[in-house]
Amino acid sequence: MKLQTTRRTYSTVLNEEIDRIDVDLVIKNAAELLTLSPSFEGKSGLGILRDGSVALKGERIVWVGETARLLKEVSLGPQGREVDATGKVVMPGLIDSHTHLIFAGSRENEFEQRIQGLSYLEIAERGGGILSTVEATRKASFDELFSLGRKRLNRMLSKGVTTIEAKSGYGLSLDDELKILRVVKALQADHPIDIAPTFLGAHTLPKEYRDARSRYIDLLTQEMIPRVAEEGLAEFCDVFCEKGAFDVEESRRILTTGKRYGLKPKIHADQLSPGGGAELAAEMGACSADHLEYVSRTGIERMVEKNVTAVLLPGASFFLSMKKLPPAREMIERGVAVSLATDLNPGSSMTESLPLIMTMGCTLLKMMPHEVIQATTLHAAKSIAREDEIGALDVGKQADVLVLDVPGFRYLPYHFGVDHVEYVIKKGRVVFRNESERG
Ligand code: NIG
Ligand code: FE
Repeated sequence: MKLQTTRRTYSTVLNEEIDRIDVDLVIKNAAELLTLSPSFEGKSGLGILRDGSVALKGERIVWVGETARLLKEVSLGPQGREVDATGKVVMPGLIDSHTHLIFAGSRENEFEQRIQGLSYLEIAERGGGILSTVEATRKASFDELFSLGRKRLNRMLSKGVTTIEAKSGYGLSLDDELKILRVVKALQADHPIDIAPTFLGAHTLPKEYRDARSRYIDLLTQEMIPRVAEEGLAEFCDVFCEKGAFDVEESRRILTTGKRYGLKPKIHADQLSPGGGAELAAEMGACSADHLEYVSRTGIERMVEKNVTAVLLPGASFFLSMKKLPPAREMIERGVAVSLATDLNPGSSMTESLPLIMTMGCTLLKMMPHEVIQATTLHAAKSIAREDEIGALDVGKQADVLVLDVPGFRYLPYHFGVDHVEYVIKKGRVVFRNESERG
């Protein structure tokens, strides 16, 4: 915003010719520029500019408009660079608003067991599930987890993802949770993708506390949360509020403590059974309630009242062959902001592909193409409290921009399972370019 305001002040003094904005990078001629900005609101809800361009300076967007105005209003210095997006779609970088980025090992054995008919809960009861990944993650070194995390981030970047939320939760001891969150912090410093870190020490009860629930909750609230906050390792605190994990009362206690230490609440709510998780999210003023397969009518109403974003994870429904799906249409129609995310994790959703999840949003949850785009930009930004910075192409916002080799936005979820990303620009820099389909 600042840059444009300054320029406007100048324009009252200087003549039009001189009053051009200096920029470093211009992306021009887009068939559709999806701004997601209310300044360009049209019917689609995507703020589409046809034959649109966007100009970047440093890490910021400094100009957005129709290409016809570009030359008159923008000046590209000798070091400047242009990207031609003729016939293509330009949009904000995708935001994956729910991931379990850091874990070791894999669980393809469980995948086989599920194909043969066992359920997610039955597998967990037989010693599989979250606890088997906890075991592998505890054994892994910082460096191993760092390199696994980096590979996953690279895959995400190649799919057009520029910001993610990442949870701990496969450590479940003070040292192992700290190890995971420190890996996240190191990756944030090393990789172009921005990471919003979440403490999920309340993912499940670790086996050494099987008969001592309340002692584990004491550990979470008296040692882990204070330490995580003191080291500045997380922005959010999450709880798996579910039968077999933590009940509403326990979740409330954990999230309240998190809040006292400055961690914003999030909840894995109503995934496998109805449990009052959405209601609790509203009561706590959570940024998001996630999963929501079994959300109640009241839960939805409370979320609307308290402006809680729904983060839906159709990858988990798909991967676990769940018949019960979250009522996305009902939520949208009642005015809940709906986000979609991968839920990347080795048990219930082993994928880094947010575009694939967008297609599932359409086919499984009956969301429209424009809604799945809002769900992975604007609404995803809101679910991690970053809507002032990212999720839209607006003057003053961070310059996270994609060029997609598709003729229009509907094509993106329609042609699924392939890569459409041509350029990924993060904070004004080209950080990924796909040249594989260039003739
Ligand atoms: O979001 N719901 C809890 N946690 C993950 C699954 C974790 C796992 O199976 O390892 C989820 O689906
Ligand atoms: Fe999850």
